[in-house]
Amino acid sequence: MSLKQSITILQSKNGISCVAQRASSWWSGVQMGPPDAILGVTEAFKKDTNPNKINLGVGAYRDDNGKPYVLPSVRAAEEKIRSKGLDKEYAPISGVAEFCKRSIELAMGENSPVLKEGLNATIQGISGTGSLRIGGAFLNGFFPGNKTVYLPSPSWGNHVPIFKHSGLDVQTYKYYDPSTCGLDFKGAIADISKIPEQSIILLHACAHNPTGVDPTKEQWKELSDVIKKRNLFVFFDMAYQGFATGSVDNDAFAVRYFVEQGHRVCLAQSFAKNMGLYGERAGAFSIIADSKEEADRVMSQIKILIRPMYSNPPVNGARIVAEILSDPSLKNQWLPEVKGMADRIISVRTKLRENLKKEGSSRNWEHITNQIGMFCFTGMNAQQVEKLVKEHSVYLTKDGRISMAGVTSKNVDYLARAMHLATK
Ligand SMILES: Cc1ncc(COP(=O)(O)O)c(C=O)c1O
Repeated sequence: MSLKQSITILQSKNGISCVAQRASSWWSGVQMGPPDAILGVTEAFKKDTNPNKINLGVGAYRDDNGKPYVLPSVRAAEEKIRSKGLDKEYAPISGVAEFCKRSIELAMGENSPVLKEGLNATIQGISGTGSLRIGGAFLNGFFPGNKTVYLPSPSWGNHVPIFKHSGLDVQTYKYYDPSTCGLDFKGAIADISKIPEQSIILLHACAHNPTGVDPTKEQWKELSDVIKKRNLFVFFDMAYQGFATGSVDNDAFAVRYFVEQGHRVCLAQSFAKNMGLYGERAGAFSIIADSKEEADRVMSQIKILIRPMYSNPPVNGARIVAEILSDPSLKNQWLPEVKGMADRIISVRTKLRENLKKEGSSRNWEHITNQIGMFCFTGMNAQQVEKLVKEHSVYLTKDGRISMAGVTSKNVDYLARAMHLATK
């Protein structure tokens, strides 16, 4: 049947059906959507012919030559897996079992009583994003309280769509103080104290994205108290374990502390950054329940949610993670590699700040070294960002966030000069 001849039943406003000739394609009514705020930056970058151009939009680690980095421990794990000659059968709905066990162990610590008692329901998700989405779906279906997630302001740009898409309402609490480019701790405590009881609060476990601003250990303790008083349910998003300080244990402080304090949290993990497995989509979602029996019930319902969405997750990335985390020699190879990535980022933060000073910038750039993890929230406004992009071919998101992972010893001088020129 040609397009012109096709017939459509139209439902009119008063409910009377009529038959109409469809004049154009099925999708003629589909409007062009805006490009993704972050991925759109890369598209613009690719089109730029300036040889000095720098892409600081996407949060993907680069080595000091600006090249993607495959961790040697990942290569070694791949070799080991290849030599086993494994089959390509489906994973269970909940994913590769060894991966789930090792992931939650990495988050909670090997001696965690919660794990010894079997209180966790852990599934393999499609990296961090998919794990958050499964968490959102479970909360929408089963959370007995107020189905609203409170996000820090600002938060990772995908949090709002993920939770809205899951059917939850989304609100925010104060987090970042633009006047100091640091944490608005007072504002956060004040806002959290007013969140309706039995709501959901999302916390970035470490290396807050986009601000790079994390609470101190003492501040985490206060946050735990206030959140407990308000009887809020905590959803931890841990996309950067090891990437903030270089220590996987240090970076898991908040998650472990909250669990020790009796919070029954849920947790999304990603191995995109700390193992460089971006495209492998290896992540995990866990709920910490009150008993093993409760964890089993929760698990049964999460599996029912997953089955019609994607049936079961891909095995390759999960096998790599499981191999690294379960083989002590591979794990000992991986830990310094994560630290190496974190340290390189910390060192370019120092260089960028020093170079801005050398360029003669009179602005206070202290926050570049105070902030932590992959991103730096520079404090540059929309006009300054536009100048950087248009006049210097330095690509970043409109909110002034730069991915420190794209800064190298080779481009840091150019970047500092460009930032100085755009902000003086
Ligand atoms: C805060 C936060 N959560 C989750 C993710 C999820 O990433 P992925 O789906 O690639 O694991 C990211 C990635 O940028 C992130 O920054």
